[in-house]
Amino acid sequence: MKKNILVTGGAGFIGSHLVRLLVNKYPNYHIVNMDKLTYAGNLENLKDIESKENYSFVKCDICDFDKVKNVFIDYKIDNVIHLAAESHVDRSIKDPFSFAQTNVMGTLSLLQAAKLYWANNFKDKLFYHVSTDEVYGSLGKEGFFLETTAYDPHSPYSASKASSDHFVRSFQDTYQFPTVISNCSNNYGSYQFPEKLIPLFINNICQNKPLPVYGKGENVRDWLFVDDHARAIDVIFHKGKLGETYNIGGFNEWKNIDLIKVIIKTVDKYLGREIGASEKLITYVTDRAGHDLRYAIDSTKLKDELGWEPSLQFEEGIDKTVKWYLDNETWLKNVTSGDYAKYYEAMYK
Ligand code: NAD
Ligand code: DAU
Repeated sequence: MKKNILVTGGAGFIGSHLVRLLVNKYPNYHIVNMDKLTYAGNLENLKDIESKENYSFVKCDICDFDKVKNVFIDYKIDNVIHLAAESHVDRSIKDPFSFAQTNVMGTLSLLQAAKLYWANNFKDKLFYHVSTDEVYGSLGKEGFFLETTAYDPHSPYSASKASSDHFVRSFQDTYQFPTVISNCSNNYGSYQFPEKLIPLFINNICQNKPLPVYGKGENVRDWLFVDDHARAIDVIFHKGKLGETYNIGGFNEWKNIDLIKVIIKTVDKYLGREIGASEKLITYVTDRAGHDLRYAIDSTKLKDELGWEPSLQFEEGIDKTVKWYLDNETWLKNVTSGDYAKYYEAMYK
């Protein structure tokens, strides 16, 4: 079946993996990538597919309601997969306004534009909202986040994502607008902006720079390889039930400090350093404000109802990821120069 699918945030980390998967797997779909190209958006991430006939790029801020409405008309959009967001918790602590603006108002702008363009005829239409496990708050030592876990966000980032989820559900309930939401755990892999833990630490180890571990390094995250997230979105997009929420995660919990030691070993191995030598770079720094202790996703519903499972073992995923950053030094150099250098200076010095 032919479809015109609007993917927002397709020039970012997860978005670029999703766009690549859809463009290559579904020649009948026209994938329209709408992205503002903030510091986190990079068309270099999509070089290999940019000239494909079933792909278009539109530079557009999702908050620009008039322009967004025109994109729906120009490209005859049937379905939306919405990923565009401000995504870094530390930035949200410094500048909460831009998170409310993009993540809440931007989502509302897309919902309203879709509703107007589809003119209340929702046959074969879908608005898929990509969200995060951070909306559920923080776990203690035991338990998992289920789809039914009450929302309890702590950072301006997670509060803005929670709010956007509520707006999506309000459209489903009020207008019978066709939606689906997924909440995923921490992703890792290629093309992730090096402000996030894994690429930041790989880059710093290479440059013999300090590795800033927040607090005691005891916070726990549940890590999923980014291609497995893109595959999950593909499955939910095609088989998910309207109005439902699906949790996505790999049952792969790591205490930060243990994960950091795995990264160090892997980078040391590829750089020909004595294994573990770079542990001397570990530097404990002031904890992140409101730092959630533990995230852990129960993705049983997705497995039982739609048959999705992660494909990659963590050790293999980390190895592939480290190798990718070492092989793509130019990409790393390009994204860490300019404005990001100033952010790094202000954040860690
Ligand atoms: P990212 O920061 O790498 O990419 C975000 C993209 O959105 C960038 O290309 C950026 O240019 C674009 N964007 C930002 N503001 C925009 C605006 N106003 N208009 C249009 N485009 C805009 O983020 P990511 O890590 O790829 O995350 C993508 C989505 O997945 C987000 O919604 C995030 O909340 C969610 N998510 C991320 C993770 C993770 O571990 N990274 C986990 C679960 C859910
Ligand atoms: O859980 C899903 C979320 O995962 C996504 O919704 C977010 O968009 C994504 O950024 C990620 O959020 P985290 O805050 O968990 O990711 P981050 O890589 O920033 O941090 C991972 C852990 O490492 C966290 O406990 C904080 C810690 N950390 C992070 C940085 C950047 C450090 O100790 N030092 C650092 O310099």
